Amino acid sequence: MNDPVYNFGAGPAMLPVPVMQQIQRDFLNFNNMGVSVIEISHRSKEFEAVLARCDELVREVGNLPSNYQILYTHGGAQMQFAGVPMNLLARKPARKAVYAETGHFSRLANTEAKRFGNIVIAHSSSETKFDRIPELTRAMVDDDASYAFITSNNTIFGTQYREIPDLGDMPLVVDATSDIFSRPLDFSKLGVVFAGMQKNLGPAGTALVIVREDLVGHAMERTPSLLDWQVYVKNHSLANTNSTFNIYVMSLVMQWLKDQGGTTGMARINEEKAQTLYRVLDSTSFYRGTAHPDHRSRMNVTWVLPNEELTATFLKEAAANGLYALKGHKVVGGVRASIYNAMPLQGCQKLAEFMREFERTRG
Ligand SMILES: Cc1ncc(COP(=O)(O)O)c(C=O)c1O
Repeated sequence: MNDPVYNFGAGPAMLPVPVMQQIQRDFLNFNNMGVSVIEISHRSKEFEAVLARCDELVREVGNLPSNYQILYTHGGAQMQFAGVPMNLLARKPARKAVYAETGHFSRLANTEAKRFGNIVIAHSSSETKFDRIPELTRAMVDDDASYAFITSNNTIFGTQYREIPDLGDMPLVVDATSDIFSRPLDFSKLGVVFAGMQKNLGPAGTALVIVREDLVGHAMERTPSLLDWQVYVKNHSLANTNSTFNIYVMSLVMQWLKDQGGTTGMARINEEKAQTLYRVLDSTSFYRGTAHPDHRSRMNVTWVLPNEELTATFLKEAAANGLYALKGHKVVGGVRASIYNAMPLQGCQKLAEFMREFERTRG
């Protein structure tokens, strides 16, 4: 077999190889039914079993308290940029929420929320090009706010909350699209956690929403049914035809995650993977990491080279060496290695080796 290609794309991102092999086996003949998993009814008992298994694994792997609901919502993560304010702002008369602005997606989230109510920006790290994550404390969130909102990992800027803020009685909403289940998370301290599937969970287009029960049932007037979390809860995410394929793939990814030792095992591997790359960045001035060292992400490692020409050569030669999709996002430039759960340690080792060799010959 040829040398493996390691896919460092930010999303849709690589899936674990055993998951894709399982999909391949099931694709034409699911459960010995003689039909594909994408051809069966979302109301069939076979699909209901897939859905129930996915829920069970999310509960087990995420160590979810029983008063949290699991929803599979349409429209990916960004649909929840509207879904969150529509479901939560009307809980209090001020229709207010407090947002931390730590990157591109958190800005999109607060911009969308402003269409629905009074949105306060607690702080923004835009002045330092989103290279860090300012602290968010309960004292920074007004009592009349319905919720506070953070983005736990900033996919484009390569920063991540080392600790998720504990806001006590104030519901915290977390967009965990790019680091869900990459490390243990204490859900009991959180109001809502949502994540587009396409990085750590499965294919694009669907989001996992984990919501504390008492935060369901407050949707503002005229919220479309398919954005109302209560409609999802009442219908077990099957008010209409959901993406059966996405949920099926996610159930396989969750099983794989469980087999890796769950979020604790995964966090250990993810730390080693990230440090394999950060060690290279810290050993030279040829590469310069763009995130503040205290706020570095374990999921997206970002750096720049001395000039555009070297960057272009680096990317071209990396691709020729089986290191795929390393180009940084256009607003940061340079290089971004997205190393979500499915990226094996060997991928990071191969990239680190390539970086050292590139510096030796071109530096
Ligand atoms: C942190 C974060 N939030 C939201 C999104 C948007 O996800 P979607 O394309 O599913 O709407 C992304 C996508 O990369 C992301 O990284």
